[in-house]
Amino acid sequence: MNPSEMPSAVLKAEHQIILRVLAVLQHLINRSESGTFEHEPLRACVDFFRHFADACHHAKEEDLLFPALESNGIPRENGPIGMMLYEHTLARGFTKEMGDSLDAFDAGDASAQSTFSIAAKKYIELMTNHIFKEDNVLFNMGDQVLKSEDQTALCSKFCEVGCRSFGGKKREEFEKIADELEARWSD
Ligand SMILES: [Fe+2]
Ligand SMILES: [Fe+2]
Repeated sequence: MNPSEMPSAVLKAEHQIILRVLAVLQHLINRSESGTFEHEPLRACVDFFRHFADACHHAKEEDLLFPALESNGIPRENGPIGMMLYEHTLARGFTKEMGDSLDAFDAGDASAQSTFSIAAKKYIELMTNHIFKEDNVLFNMGDQVLKSEDQTALCSKFCEVGCRSFGGKKREEFEKIADELEARWSD
């Protein structure tokens, strides 16, 4: 089958968008550590992670891909799927900590900057490794076990998810936000 129509290719392309915003976040943390806390783009990054990386992308994995892998023999408990699900939970926790820190900063708590940086660094490290593992291990296993008709069915379900809106925005709007953040805030 055409590789670009495989579910793993769709998810890998989304990983590339997420990695670009992780690089923006790292850039903004570096600025924060040299004295400039760029509150507004940091909020845009957190919104992107909450709605695109988690609600849109992780939902495709958790609700569609992982159950298909499980029913084709890839174990969940004590296996790669369980590990990926655990990491999604950790990622949600760090995203919430980042959002809460920005709220605290808005409310006048200056110490919230360092709380934000700590959560953001943990999030960047976790997500970078998580994406590497999915791209190079789990998705390759999936490509081996999923039949071509399973792959086609998953891709069309992905399209349905892609048509929904997350936090009031469609998937294409998140790509545009990633482009704009990268154009303004990168090394
Ligand atoms: Fe994942
Ligand atoms: Fe992923």
